[in-house]
Amino acid sequence: MKKKQKQEEQLIIEDITDTAPDALEKESDEAKEAGTEPARADQVKPDTLREEPGNEDPPVVIDMKGITKKYFIGQPNELEVLHGIDIKVRKGEFVAIVGQSGSGKSTLMNVIGALDRPTGGEYTLDGVDMFRTGDSELSEIRCKKIGFVFQTYNLVARTSALKNVELPMLYAGVPMRVRSKKARELLNLVEMGDRIRHLPDELSGGQKQRVAIARAMANDPSIILADEPTGALDSVTGRLIMDIFHKLHDEQGKTIILITHSPELAAECERILTLKDGVIINEQKGSGRNAVL
Ligand SMILES: Nc1ncnc2c1ncn2[C@@H]1O[C@H](COP(=O)(O)OP(=O)(O)OP(=O)(O)O)[C@@H](O)[C@H]1O
Ligand SMILES: [Mg+2]
Repeated sequence: MKKKQKQEEQLIIEDITDTAPDALEKESDEAKEAGTEPARADQVKPDTLREEPGNEDPPVVIDMKGITKKYFIGQPNELEVLHGIDIKVRKGEFVAIVGQSGSGKSTLMNVIGALDRPTGGEYTLDGVDMFRTGDSELSEIRCKKIGFVFQTYNLVARTSALKNVELPMLYAGVPMRVRSKKARELLNLVEMGDRIRHLPDELSGGQKQRVAIARAMANDPSIILADEPTGALDSVTGRLIMDIFHKLHDEQGKTIILITHSPELAAECERILTLKDGVIINEQKGSGRNAVL
């Protein structure tokens, strides 16, 4: 039985990574883009987010002070894109980030999600000092605590919806039966249970994004970071995707940070941060999910 399970597991790995010599490296790049690259199973620790007893405010999970980000595009052409960002996000908040194209939203999101390192300032993510964290620990944090959703979905092309959702769990060392069951549950949650064998090319944009959200939820992250998840979708489909985020926020208490160009969708969040030229120039309350479109 054990042997059979091991063989099946190997088949899935081969199926996902392909057997071509360069495929593993390519998939690994895709996984990094998708925020699903491997963390060794022995590195994965239980989620440390806990409500402090007697503490009325939920804990701060994202705590940034004076964060800067520079790109070095050949000396002396260093380009500072973020100029001292202060953000605090508490567990269970639903925050929107808005701003013009080029204002630094994706750069900020990548720093928040530990996909990229800040240049200066202070950043603590769920109690972990991001300036004192090695690459393997960063990878573990991404794998375990954060679910990423992108405008372009970033699904692995030659792999079914089901296996795309299983992928982060495979990397986290979750046994095959457990991850298959969980992946099905997550696909049902986003109402994609009838498309689990479809390849990404056989799905509509909205369906791909639903699979991507299910995949982002695979390791039960406490934080979901979504960079223009509705940007490539029509407004009706965007509405469906936004409803899924509300559901994850309301029913599962996920902390969600959403980048959007849509003022209507931003208004549905609890708080709206406006970024301009790498600086937060405004912070206001949203009117919540009952805002009328
Ligand atoms: N890897 C990089 N190297 C150099 N400059 C970069 C890099 N990534 C982004 N930039 C620059 O940083 C600035 C902010 O880019 P960013 O992608 O964060 O903007 P954005 O607010 O997400 O825009 P959009 O709404 O178009 O997605 C831009 O001027 C961009 O040219
Ligand atoms: Mg962007």
